[in-house]
Amino acid sequence: MERPDADALDRARHHAQAWLDGLGTRPVYAPASLDELRQSLGRPTPERGLPAAQVVDELARDAERGLHGSQGGRFFGWVIGGGLPAAIGADWLTAVWDQNACLHASGPAAAVVEEVAGAWLKDLFGLPAEASFAFVTGCQMAHVTGLAAARHAVLRDRGWDVERQGLSGAPPIRVLSNADRHASVDIALRILGIGTDALEPLAMDDNRQVTPEGLSAKLAERDAPTIVILQAGELNLAAFDPFAQLCPIARAAGAWTHVDGAFGLWARVSPAHRHLAQGIELADSWTTDGHKYLNVPYDSGLAFVRDADAHRAAMTMTTSYFPAGGGTARDPFDWNPELSRRARGFAVYAAIRELGREGLADLVRRTSRHARALAEGIGALPGAELVMVSDLNQALVRFGDDARTDAVIAQINASGEALFGGVSWRGRRCMRISVSNWRTGEADVARTIKAVGAVLAG
Ligand SMILES: Cc1ncc(COP(=O)(O)O)c(C=O)c1O
Repeated sequence: MERPDADALDRARHHAQAWLDGLGTRPVYAPASLDELRQSLGRPTPERGLPAAQVVDELARDAERGLHGSQGGRFFGWVIGGGLPAAIGADWLTAVWDQNACLHASGPAAAVVEEVAGAWLKDLFGLPAEASFAFVTGCQMAHVTGLAAARHAVLRDRGWDVERQGLSGAPPIRVLSNADRHASVDIALRILGIGTDALEPLAMDDNRQVTPEGLSAKLAERDAPTIVILQAGELNLAAFDPFAQLCPIARAAGAWTHVDGAFGLWARVSPAHRHLAQGIELADSWTTDGHKYLNVPYDSGLAFVRDADAHRAAMTMTTSYFPAGGGTARDPFDWNPELSRRARGFAVYAAIRELGREGLADLVRRTSRHARALAEGIGALPGAELVMVSDLNQALVRFGDDARTDAVIAQINASGEALFGGVSWRGRRCMRISVSNWRTGEADVARTIKAVGAVLAG
């Protein structure tokens, strides 16, 4: 009997294992040029179909040189986690089961697994038990979700029903923000129709933290529906705002506080790092990623909202072809910006079970230790300068001047030994070090420092 599914899955299993086994020897940086990839993957529109296993084999062959080794321990670009084995396994099953995690009725186990994992996450992060949540594609969509709830609440407080009336004619929303916010916040504001003109930067101190005085002064300037955007883990410094001081000030003024915790929210799972995000539970909405620190394969983002009614009002809808609710089941579509959607909860559930509270704390501790060791080791090399090491998993180094820094980054990446990105920070080009992968170990750190040394000596 023909079993195309078995053949295709066998081949995928083979290629997947070969990929993971080769992480130590393959170049970390995808070696293929754009032209080469267009050559290897580009074909005329297929007229006739092919056996499934052949399609899988050829995809693995043709894509391989265009794949970064981001699953490996020497990938330090952007903020990118790897995939924990249980999370990868659960992600494969998610594809095979192919549940539509829109409703409990369309994916019963998918809906319940989100219910369970959402409660675990609130417990791990120390967020209010009554907070609602959504499993989305990434922090970007988590911002859209949390800020849609914020938009609802601050306008509801002014007697305006934004879901029904829209934004035309609504009292203009003011968004007071940490000036170092990630660009994904701006995109969310654009998508939500609030617009980036609504943004007003808040005064920051030398540690790039919003100051209580600055927030109070801004709030006192005028009476308006207000959202305050704070940061848990800024992209370069991993700076955290002083939530315990700021959130009560915002609340007293009737403002909604939204926190970008794309990777920084995970500091809460480590007793050694929890103090960095002290008081974060006092905010109104929080976002983070599963595909960064939790090491869940892409894509996985998470939004949490204290005012569950505002969250639900911003996302839910009714239609006659959905089974009537009213039971106790949690329907993801009440909380998510999408209707039909991948059952993302399975991989998050599996990752948390694989690590447990202790393993998560250890992951944050280890990655922070490795980031510091990399920064100090590279910074001590002739021709290198340690610019900054954060208390979490981010650091910056620099090599001579701006041009030299960019050239060194390019040479390290071209060596295939490690991958780093560059950034302009306080007017100077730097190399970013971001350690988020569960696989990174001492040997990776030592091998990377040696590779950077070879480039600098070369
Ligand atoms: C601080 C911060 N916020 C938000 C984002 C956006 O997250 P995503 O790419 O998962 O949408 C990132 C991504 O690197 C980030 O570092």
